Amino acid sequence: MRRTRPLKAALFATVATFIAPAAFAQTAATPAPPAPAAPAAAPDAPAQPQTVAYWMNNAQTPDVRAKQALAAMTLDEKLTLVTGFADGGGLDKVSDDVVSPAIKADVAAHAIKGAAGYVPGIDRLRIPAQWQTDASIGVRVEGLPRTALPSSLATAASFDPTISEAGGKMIGWEARNSGFNMMLAGGANLAREPRNGRNFEYVGEDPYLAGQMAGALIRGIESNHIASTMKHFAVNDQESLRTTVDDQISEKAMRQSDLLAFEMAMEQGNPLSVMCSYNLVGGAWACENEYLLKSTLKQQWDFKGFVMSDWGAVHSTDKAANAGLDQLTGLPCCGDHISHFGPDLKAAVAAGTVSQARLDDMVERILYAMFASGSYDEPVKADDSKIDFKTDGDIAQTAVENSLVLLKNTGNLLPLTGVKSVAVIGSHADKGVLSGGGSSSVTPVGGNPVTDGPTSWPGPVRYLPSSPVDALKAELPNATIGYTSGDDIAAAAAAAKASDVAIVFVNKWNGEGFDARLELDGNQDALVAAVVAANPKTIVVVESGGAVLMPWADKTPAILEAFYPGARGGPAIARILTGKVNPSGHLPITFPASDAQLARAEVPGFGQKDDSAMVKVDYNVDGAAIGYKWYDVKNYKPLFAFGHGLSYTTFQVSKLKATLDGGDLVVSGIVTNTGATQGKAVAQVYLSPHDWKAAGWEAPKRLVAFQKVDLAPGASAPFSQRVDSRLLATYNTATQGWVVADGQYRVMLGTASDELPQKTDVTLHATTWGDAKQ
Ligand code: BGC
Repeated sequence: MRRTRPLKAALFATVATFIAPAAFAQTAATPAPPAPAAPAAAPDAPAQPQTVAYWMNNAQTPDVRAKQALAAMTLDEKLTLVTGFADGGGLDKVSDDVVSPAIKADVAAHAIKGAAGYVPGIDRLRIPAQWQTDASIGVRVEGLPRTALPSSLATAASFDPTISEAGGKMIGWEARNSGFNMMLAGGANLAREPRNGRNFEYVGEDPYLAGQMAGALIRGIESNHIASTMKHFAVNDQESLRTTVDDQISEKAMRQSDLLAFEMAMEQGNPLSVMCSYNLVGGAWACENEYLLKSTLKQQWDFKGFVMSDWGAVHSTDKAANAGLDQLTGLPCCGDHISHFGPDLKAAVAAGTVSQARLDDMVERILYAMFASGSYDEPVKADDSKIDFKTDGDIAQTAVENSLVLLKNTGNLLPLTGVKSVAVIGSHADKGVLSGGGSSSVTPVGGNPVTDGPTSWPGPVRYLPSSPVDALKAELPNATIGYTSGDDIAAAAAAAKASDVAIVFVNKWNGEGFDARLELDGNQDALVAAVVAANPKTIVVVESGGAVLMPWADKTPAILEAFYPGARGGPAIARILTGKVNPSGHLPITFPASDAQLARAEVPGFGQKDDSAMVKVDYNVDGAAIGYKWYDVKNYKPLFAFGHGLSYTTFQVSKLKATLDGGDLVVSGIVTNTGATQGKAVAQVYLSPHDWKAAGWEAPKRLVAFQKVDLAPGASAPFSQRVDSRLLATYNTATQGWVVADGQYRVMLGTASDELPQKTDVTLHATTWGDAKQ
């Protein structure tokens, strides 16, 4: 539900003084705006003369204010709001006919250097500028230290939307106090392609989990009265040839997978903007894709905010504007035709190929986002003194401590107790933890402690200064903790042999703009094998963007998946390894046993630059059967299944019940901590039609409910959830609605997709709903 901002009487009083007609006239550089239509008088609003800028009255709804501000704008002012710039770099080379000297001067004076985007405001009408910052793990301004959350994929492993929301609240606060009123955060693309270089920026392979987690992040960010941008819409599931890859996928499959994740994230988070992606879908670029932007997002989902392009993702004027793109961003980024939404749009409106009504709608949506977010009434201001890096670091630490996934723990090697000596090996664990590359990479507080990696885009390869070795020393004060780089395998094996236990850190650097194979790079597989051979008490900690292959998994007793663990990764890893924190993360993606299990032998265009060729990619191969669904269809046994995650205690699920309440499926059960340690379990409920093919499903089962519960030893907690009906249904493209097939369904409860001991059956009756709006 769309939130309405509370009336702030005090603030309105200040504004009312400020907009006295004399002051207004004094600052007007152009003739006074046409008097807006008199607003419906709010009961407690002071009487206003006709010349007052009514949209400043925050007693009115955002819709009304947007309409009033729009009515006061000239054509050029409207065009100003629909074109965004990067940080000002390169604009001097653009002709004045395309970007006026006044706008260039504005960008030069007000854009934040090193930030993602800037859209000039309209001083005459008191419409503020839009300051846009990346991204989902924290504020990214090159060179400006800010707090980095764990990667979004890591946070998804918490299976706890409250963790995601708290993270969003923190980074949104840092954004507001860094001078930004818009955060380009809320990545909701599904991990359809495990080799996608940006999976770490997203929230896993399941639409329901992804929708909950991305939505919660957006909700947290927007609680700071700034806007958040759900992205990259849509089916932007690989980076190779990302601007020319044409995704072929049926509407039904898309609605049940990629689009369902976005739809649910939108409902949960209420983003005020959406970023369309680089790729094509069904032959049309996402930023000029009428099906995606107009029919689905705006008409069917009733999205009220605005669509901004990804940086350099616009290829036309009329087509893009008429398909639903509202703002072209990031000029002069990426070879965009600079005038698409500048002089070309002005000409198109004059010629009638883009209607005045459509331009007005574009502008009204942008204004709506400013009013609805609250950033209009509470303008942002850079103020470092308002950022408490200690508190924000603590929030990042809570997030990661709820997210790391213990994949294996044979013989209860972990937690480490009573060890006298530990050989830590590899991945610069003496200095910090790895983070992902590209536009989401945050400049860490304390600087990058490892500066010998590649620096070119999407680099620099960044470590966050949070040393696992230092943290282990703090947690195990009586043990000798040594560090060996791992470059020399023999030396690492010798160090491991001479210690009680060995901890090998391995990593995989992923980033925007490239996909990567699932093998670890360099000598890391050989390193693990040699260390495990030298000391059977070896733990492997993996810092990776997503799934990696682990040819050594069988022989390695303990494996902790840390993904990119963020600003406090070091202490979180140490506290989990030593048992101060009981691991509770569960995999939001499947870890394949081998490449042979993937839907595509190769990423189409793998390794090619993003615009070097047009290539079609057939996503109908997997369709909506992404991740664990694909493994179920194929009957493959992965290395580690979706939802898997161990704890230092044990849990039991019981009393699973499935009932129908007014046509809704309600599932409930009990989780009990049967071990001796406090711990958090994730109850997971999956649904399976008796005959999944006859029901039209993409795969035998779907995740339909999950809940994380914190339990003392011996304690039990009940849970009960109403299942979103779309998770019971298939999408009918003829009626543009959802259909539940009549029949028997199996409900399964457990703590991983491959560990579902409780089962019960329920009969669902045929239902249809949600036919398209006319
Ligand atoms: C990325 C977006 C990002 C934008 C602005 C693009 O290259 O795909 O995710 O928000 O740049 O930095």
